[in-house]
Amino acid sequence: MSDSIIHRTARLGDGTRHGHFCVFGDGVVIGNGCVIGNNVVIHDGVTIGENVRIDDNAVIGKMPMKAANSAVTKDQELPPTVIGSDCIIGTSVVVYRGCAVGRKVLIADLSTVRENVTVGDFTIVGRGVAIENFCTIGRYCKLETNVYITAYSELEDRVFVAPCVATSNDNFVGRTEERFKHFKGVTVKKGGRIGVNATILPGKTVGADGMVGAGAVMTTDCPPKKIIVGMPAKVFRDVPEEQLLENQGWEE
Ligand SMILES: CC(C)(COP(=O)(O)OP(=O)(O)OC[C@H]1O[C@@H](n2cnc3c(N)ncnc32)[C@H](O)[C@@H]1OP(=O)(O)O)[C@@H](O)C(=O)NCCC(=O)NCCS
Repeated sequence: MSDSIIHRTARLGDGTRHGHFCVFGDGVVIGNGCVIGNNVVIHDGVTIGENVRIDDNAVIGKMPMKAANSAVTKDQELPPTVIGSDCIIGTSVVVYRGCAVGRKVLIADLSTVRENVTVGDFTIVGRGVAIENFCTIGRYCKLETNVYITAYSELEDRVFVAPCVATSNDNFVGRTEERFKHFKGVTVKKGGRIGVNATILPGKTVGADGMVGAGAVMTTDCPPKKIIVGMPAKVFRDVPEEQLLENQGWEE
């Protein structure tokens, strides 16, 4: 007898297997050939593509939490989460309801992806990364260990974010009503790169193929194809020709 609880309307594809103590909710659809670990919870309506691996203790389709004194999280209807084919979802990952994850995405152990987020095909979300609500993450991005992507941010394709980068969206740091008018996440244009432990202030933009040096505090935008370093960060030099996206031989 199974020790998992699978709603009678849930559909599991051919060859899909799962471990002990899983819960699959109402209307869950899981494609063929998936491998799901122990104690995995897949909430109502979630759709999982084919050949997806989901490791122990992952939770997919979690409803958002609203703190009693939350200033920004609103009650809202969210579409069910969709996970594309050939994804790998690590141990204890939490993906909220209202997320659309593309194909061949890796979301590593302990990461959290909040509601109203899209993650493009082939992107890597490293260990312990937090992607807050209302973010768009492009294709072929790399978000390394412990990156923090603040709400209302946009990362275009081929963006690289090194470990422990912190981004921010509120220059008023939680005070005044005025702040609600100015909330703005960060934008990283195609091929933009951010070095380890850099800090990006609210609303700033890394231009296409721009690079932010390690430990920089980015108080102004980073121009396209320039490297900025320091605190506050200033233009240091051009991104070397051989590092430009157009010279990598990548198709897209
Ligand atoms: C910006 C960067 C690319 C410059 O590398 P570089 O051209 O080899 O620079 P150098 O080491 O020759 O340093 C040149 C000068 O810039 C300074 N400098 C270099 N990087 C700096 C940084 N991130 N912040 C402040 N100053 C920096 C150096 O101290 C040196 O100053 P000096 O001439 O007064 O001694 C590099 O330092 C960097 O930040 N790389 C990012 C690493 C990273 O985060 N990788 C992520 C994957 S793990």
